[in-house]
Amino acid sequence: MLRGTRVGLRDRHEDDIPVLRAELYNDVVNAARAEGAPWQPVTSKDPRLAVDYAAEGVVPFSVVELESGTLLGTANLWGIDSHNRNAHIGLGLLPAARGKGYGTDVVATLCYYGFVVRGLHRLQIETLSDNEAMIRSAERNGFTREGVLRNSAWVLGEFMDEVVLGLLAGEWTAGGVV
Ligand SMILES: CC(C)(COP(=O)(O)OP(=O)(O)OC[C@H]1O[C@@H](n2cnc3c(N)ncnc32)[C@H](O)[C@@H]1OP(=O)(O)O)[C@@H](O)C(=O)NCCC(=O)NCCS
Repeated sequence: MLRGTRVGLRDRHEDDIPVLRAELYNDVVNAARAEGAPWQPVTSKDPRLAVDYAAEGVVPFSVVELESGTLLGTANLWGIDSHNRNAHIGLGLLPAARGKGYGTDVVATLCYYGFVVRGLHRLQIETLSDNEAMIRSAERNGFTREGVLRNSAWVLGEFMDEVVLGLLAGEWTAGGVV
């Protein structure tokens, strides 16, 4: 398990699946805003839930509270490009876990995984331009706003802008992650 300050990133357990399915992926508004794809019903065999660790280019984690082991959500590195040595970060916390500082800690822990464990050079996050919690979680970890993709996301009846944030290995300052 990867250990942040307050969160752990571990493998997916069977009993995580119904919780993640009910609280994250069956929430139409959250999924439509976070996924970049149209919402549709999700089965428990969906690869975002029943993950395949042999799949290339993506490493999924379940996020837990370190102290209690309580499930907090999901996190992943995706689009891992081992030639250009970059990847994207994705995360989604259960509703009750949001706004408590966990997201900032998850981003820090994913940075450790990307830069130290995988030896990547660049990490990137794309998020809707009104997702202040995601943007702040990234900026707190040293990410720079690199640009705006105007009207790049169709979200529940309207086009929205996305913000691209990037962090290079040399800009990253490791926190308390091991
Ligand atoms: C986005 C998400 C991962 C952020 O994690 P979080 O634990 O809620 O964020 P944190 O508590 O670490 O807060 C980070 C910063 O955002 C601010 N913040 C938190 N919630 C906020 C909100 N609803 N509105 C505005 N600012 C907010 C915090 O005050 C903090 O700012 P600071 O560093 O200046 O003090 C989480 O809210 C989430 O899972 N949301 C739903 C799914 C989603 O949007 N995923 C990302 C898709 S790209």
